[in-house]
Amino acid sequence: MPDIVKPYSVDLDLSIGTLRSFNKKVEVKLSELREFFFNREAADNIIKKHNDPAVYVYFENSHPHMRGEMNFGVTILSPGKVGCEYNMTRGHYHSRRRGEVYVGLRGEGIVVMQTKDGMFFHSPIRRGKVVYVPPSWAHRTVNTCDRKLSFFYAYASDAGHDYGTIRRKGFAKLVVEKCGKPKIIDNPRFTR
Ligand code: PA5
Ligand code: NI
Repeated sequence: MPDIVKPYSVDLDLSIGTLRSFNKKVEVKLSELREFFFNREAADNIIKKHNDPAVYVYFENSHPHMRGEMNFGVTILSPGKVGCEYNMTRGHYHSRRRGEVYVGLRGEGIVVMQTKDGMFFHSPIRRGKVVYVPPSWAHRTVNTCDRKLSFFYAYASDAGHDYGTIRRKGFAKLVVEKCGKPKIIDNPRFTR
């Protein structure tokens, strides 16, 4: 008999953009993100100089990977750049056809999304902004400000995460700083 999850509630601290209780914490360091950035030499230099800093952390209320359950949490993405690319999450497709909702809590950034058949979309994310990620759209969040970016997320527990496709092929577009401002450019290394 699978575990039964009972109803519950948790507090979201809206002033600092964090979740007060969670059952899973994941910290992602730059060395784990190296292949996802365009300029890997710049990533290696930062890893060496700053002792492999954490780029983001997420705090989740995770439930059994069963149809109908949901996972939710908060991701906190540090400011910074690797070369001219802003700090970002790895990004992934869900392995099953499941959507996701993001709610911006703090800071400012861009959510980039794409499909395997070549569609691309981007949306700003900031406090109060709700971003809907439909099924079959890969999603990555980019911190374009000089403070922490945090957002709430919720998705189906049985969604699954496919990181391999993004690791191999990348995103069609990169979010870079140009003349002090975020700019979305084609990724010269992208393969469909
Ligand atoms: O489920 C999501 O899309 C988010 O919670 C991400 O998992 C989180 O932001 C971390 O990104 P990634 O899983 O791409 O490393
Ligand atoms: Ni997701």
